[in-house]
Amino acid sequence: MKVLLTGATGYIGSAVTDHLVAAGHQVVALTRNAAPRPGRGWHAQLAGDTADPASLAGVVTPDIEAVLHLAPPSGDVDTDTAVVEALAGPLRGTGRPFVYTSGVWVLGATGEAKGVTEDAPTHPVDLVGYRPTIEQRVLAEASHGVRAVVVRPGIVHGRGGGIPALLVDRARKQGVPEYYGKEDVRWAMVHVDDLAELFVAAAERAPAGTLWHGVAESAVPVRDLARAAGRAAGILAAPQVVTVAKAAETFGDLFADALALDQSVSGAAARAELGWRPTGPGAVADLVSGSYRPVEVFGAPEGAETDAEVAAIRRLVAEVEHAQQHELVDRFLSLFRRQDPVWTTGHGKRLSGFAEIAAFTQKVLPGATAYATAVYDVERVLFLQPGVAAVNVRQQPVASDGSRITDRPEGRPFYVLVKEDGAWRIGAAQNTLAVE
Ligand SMILES: NC(=O)c1ccc[n+]([C@@H]2O[C@H](COP(=O)([O-])OP(=O)(O)OC[C@H]3O[C@@H](n4cnc5c(N)ncnc54)[C@H](OP(=O)(O)O)[C@@H]3O)[C@@H](O)[C@H]2O)c1
Repeated sequence: MKVLLTGATGYIGSAVTDHLVAAGHQVVALTRNAAPRPGRGWHAQLAGDTADPASLAGVVTPDIEAVLHLAPPSGDVDTDTAVVEALAGPLRGTGRPFVYTSGVWVLGATGEAKGVTEDAPTHPVDLVGYRPTIEQRVLAEASHGVRAVVVRPGIVHGRGGGIPALLVDRARKQGVPEYYGKEDVRWAMVHVDDLAELFVAAAERAPAGTLWHGVAESAVPVRDLARAAGRAAGILAAPQVVTVAKAAETFGDLFADALALDQSVSGAAARAELGWRPTGPGAVADLVSGSYRPVEVFGAPEGAETDAEVAAIRRLVAEVEHAQQHELVDRFLSLFRRQDPVWTTGHGKRLSGFAEIAAFTQKVLPGATAYATAVYDVERVLFLQPGVAAVNVRQQPVASDGSRITDRPEGRPFYVLVKEDGAWRIGAAQNTLAVE
């Protein structure tokens, strides 16, 4: 399809462009600024401003087979209504899709309800106050022969961007991770590439007059997101709750209110009825060891294949951390290759072969985390040859609340990993205490 996309330069729009192109569609990007932006994968570029609906007259030409409207609201209900009319009007009677982007904030705080579905009443926070009106205006186009669809994304993460990047930035600036409102507040989350796939699915096959939640994780505790954001910022400290009034000094009243929303939102309908299959990492993992934490990579060409190998290596190291933190002996041992592995501890004890590593682990791991544990961050990956990687890890001692234990030295684990039967395993490992 030839798809007109508003918001194509934005965080979500960039991912939607990539996924539309990968699915064989052509993207016609509507941008405020007509200056050409090569390298974005667009088929064509048109100028138009969604704050000025008159500028949109004529942009939906007869060859446009779908319109995906991702540019944000203007703040004025009449302007946004006129934008919908300008973009959806030319599609009337064609059965072609018009997909409007709303957001789960229109649901307001969801209270005790778990996994609120698309048919729940809206209680929008002021920031998105009139958006349900626009949703209804869009859906009404179904009765005029437009395949009108609304997508409500959760809070979007991935590609190192979105609101989670703001949490990382705040942790870095404040020296402590923070989150807003109440201690037990939860956010509904979605990975930007999964959301982009949902937009493609909505354009390709969502029935007229339907509304979908773009949510992969219904209710993630924001405390966990904040702790993970702190880690992404290199700040190992217990997260602090900031009151809405205090947050408003930084973000303004409306955005502070929205950040404090406690929500549990279901994305099950899109999975069941559109065949949507979110595959991206969860938001916490993405912050701790994903797109918010770049790793130095050597010995392999840049590209999706190398990214996938690095992601798999990071998952292995995350498994090392998880097994250590939860004293899971068998899980830890399952991460080694069976043939002649070697492990040298931070104190220089060399364990040669699987049996020695297993006996030592069984002796020392149970009870090891009573007073302290550690976090493990991959810092550098050197691919020595396909299926063999040398990995530098930073290990920092932490207390059970995740805060750094300052009077213990860090470790500098070095792993030689090998890929066996499609999975990375530890072949040789050496830890070294980093003494100042
Ligand atoms: N990010 C989230 O977590 C999230 C969650 C739920 C819903 N949403 C909704 O998803 C949509 C996209 O969000 P995003 O995070 O991708 O935003 P974003 O990164 O800020 O991108 C906004 C895009 O809209 C374009 N735009 C802004 N004002 C425009 C105007 N007056 N005329 C034409 N284009 C204009 C921008 O183009 P320029 O290059 O000209 O600036 C940019 O391409 C929004 O409607 C947002 O409310 C986002």
